Amino acid sequence: MQISAIRASHRRRFLRFLAGTPLVLSGSAWRGVRRATAETPGEIPRSPVVTSPGEAINVFDFEAAAREKLPAAHFGYLATGVDDDATLRANREGFSKFQIRPRRLVDVATVDASVELFGQTWRSPIVLAPAGSQKAFHPDGEIAVARAAGAKGHLQILSTGATTSVEAVRTAHGGPIWFQLYPTDTWRITHALVKRAEAAGCPVLVLTVDLPAGRNTETERRFTRRDTRPCASCHQPGLQGFVRRKPMFDGLELAGVGFLSPRLTWDAVRRLKDTTRMKLVLKGIETGEDAELCVRHGVDGIIVSNHGGRAEESGRSTVECLPEVVNAVQGRMPVLVDSGFRRGTDVFKALALGAKAICIGRPYLWGLAAFGQPGVERVLDILNWEFELTMRHAGVTSLAKLDRSFVLDTRRP
Ligand SMILES: Cc1cc2nc3c(=O)[nH]c(=O)nc-3n(C[C@H](O)[C@H](O)[C@H](O)COP(=O)(O)O)c2cc1C
Repeated sequence: MQISAIRASHRRRFLRFLAGTPLVLSGSAWRGVRRATAETPGEIPRSPVVTSPGEAINVFDFEAAAREKLPAAHFGYLATGVDDDATLRANREGFSKFQIRPRRLVDVATVDASVELFGQTWRSPIVLAPAGSQKAFHPDGEIAVARAAGAKGHLQILSTGATTSVEAVRTAHGGPIWFQLYPTDTWRITHALVKRAEAAGCPVLVLTVDLPAGRNTETERRFTRRDTRPCASCHQPGLQGFVRRKPMFDGLELAGVGFLSPRLTWDAVRRLKDTTRMKLVLKGIETGEDAELCVRHGVDGIIVSNHGGRAEESGRSTVECLPEVVNAVQGRMPVLVDSGFRRGTDVFKALALGAKAICIGRPYLWGLAAFGQPGVERVLDILNWEFELTMRHAGVTSLAKLDRSFVLDTRRP
């Protein structure tokens, strides 16, 4: 062997050694090397943590980036399910029980994914679900989300627990947003929240009904233990601490008020209907029986939801709950669904099962935590692209043409 060839072979071996030694490489250099060397034939290369929105290949890529950027306690709040996180996992597994039945030889050069909800047309059936405390993920919080949603033509639902006011978010979005209500245990507070959302121009009130009595968020508590920062430097514990950073409660007398509402019953639905001209949507319905009651109590719409596996540990995915709710409603009101949506195929399956639109929570919050507004925009772009690609593959050119015939329920004998 020539001396130069031996030297080259030594150099290659030395470089391979370096590539396998994280200690001598700085963050970005190490990521570059990992990208170049992780592949062995036949193996899917593991993705490095993305350092810009454009690097993300799918929405899962934002989760690792969010985890890297967030304090442990805040990531725990974002990631947690309840008890063993079984419902959180079930939400993802549920989609595999439905298979897509694609139709061929349809002209799919143009597809239209727009959807109409209560008289308003949105570019996409992907809605940004309400999530509290978004400034815990990024200093721009709900404003960054509103700008991204508005720019991309998506509906945004603002949480009662938002760290930005409904008026500011409405302005940043540019279009009508929906307001999500946690009613508390005091009608005076409920009434004030509803009237403020109405005055801000929200056309729809979303009453969340799946958290009457608290929850057991073990994963969150484990992450919080790892966090060395004192929580009290940002927020105080309890309701007073909670509302200090929540502008929807500004100016309200909160002495003696409880944030949970264990006494909430169907009577509250009637009272809310009599109080506001906004449409009333119930979020957290999971059974046909409750869907029937929604119809009977004059509810205007339903979001099938288990709070992203953060409410009760039912062990049941929402995509599996969806058919019985759709069946009970019989087209009398729009049914939306959330919890576990991460892929365009997930969106396709739910819409084929009769959902009018779907909501996402964690994916856009990962995008927000990782990169602010551009991160949220990229999450929406990826999901829209995947969904429209699925429409094309299945031969569906508009949402009106998407029906039950496009999915097979493999749970049925
Ligand atoms: C960090 C976080 C905060 C949330 N806050 C609220 C809230 O204030 N009100 C509400 O109705 N739902 C809330 N949710 C539930 C979402 O609206 C939605 O149901 C859920 O995130 C959908 O599941 P996914 O995260 O798997 O997409 C929250 C979810 C997360 C992840």
